[in-house]
Amino acid sequence: MSPSEHARRDVELYAIRRRQPYGIDIDGFRLCVAKDVFPPDLGYSPRRLAAVLRRYTPRRALDMGCGSGYLALVLSKNGAREVWAVDNHPPAVACTTENVARNPLPGVRAVKSDLFAAIPPGTTFDLIVFNQPFYPSTTRRGVFGMARDGGRVIIERFLTQARGFITRESVILMPFSQMAGSENDPGAIAAQLGYTSRIVHRESDGPHAHVIHEIRALDSRPGAGRRARVRH
Ligand SMILES: C[S@@+](CC[C@H](N)C(=O)[O-])C[C@H]1O[C@@H](n2cnc3c(N)ncnc32)[C@H](O)[C@@H]1O
Repeated sequence: MSPSEHARRDVELYAIRRRQPYGIDIDGFRLCVAKDVFPPDLGYSPRRLAAVLRRYTPRRALDMGCGSGYLALVLSKNGAREVWAVDNHPPAVACTTENVARNPLPGVRAVKSDLFAAIPPGTTFDLIVFNQPFYPSTTRRGVFGMARDGGRVIIERFLTQARGFITRESVILMPFSQMAGSENDPGAIAAQLGYTSRIVHRESDGPHAHVIHEIRALDSRPGAGRRARVRH
């Protein structure tokens, strides 16, 4: 997808923003989607990630870039005891806090943080899901908290910092759509940063493929290869 196509897409996102706030029912949750918060019913990624999350049984999980808090609620509903819902965009943190109050589930905390900055060092997660901004915003302010550092820049920062918050059993789930451009593919960037990854979901929409990457720390120590528990 070219920069001009990204710009056209951003115009569509601003049109959705003008209709906010609104309420939606999704997966048995009644959610508010506040002004300037990423809508969980937009596109493929949130709902496909929610479906893929059902295969995993983490005890402590992180929803990075939580937006409305939808994926954090899914993780808690699936049985995670402790779920961190993190976003650096204040409307998203407020929206997640409200949605956790509306859909009370145990162990979900909403935290304002630039990636891992506010997470205490030494905290480790069995599973991290990051529905990252797919490409750099084409506007100065961005929409739904998605700024100029979207795509490759934020993916590199995220995967570099994530090393301090995972174990060799942890999994990281990140979506990718070809419309974002191959330079913004988390699978390729993960490989460059020394992670291993595989595709755990794939579907096509006309010319574009949409995938979900499962990313793990590459660990060559003896005994490496033990896997986070996966529900079959
Ligand atoms: C595509 S939205 C995903 C929202 C939600 N997880 C979902 O799937 O509906 C990306 C989210 O990442 C957040 N974000 C962007 N940069 C961030 C950063 N540096 N630290 C934390 N969150 C960030 C945005 O505010 C936005 O809410």
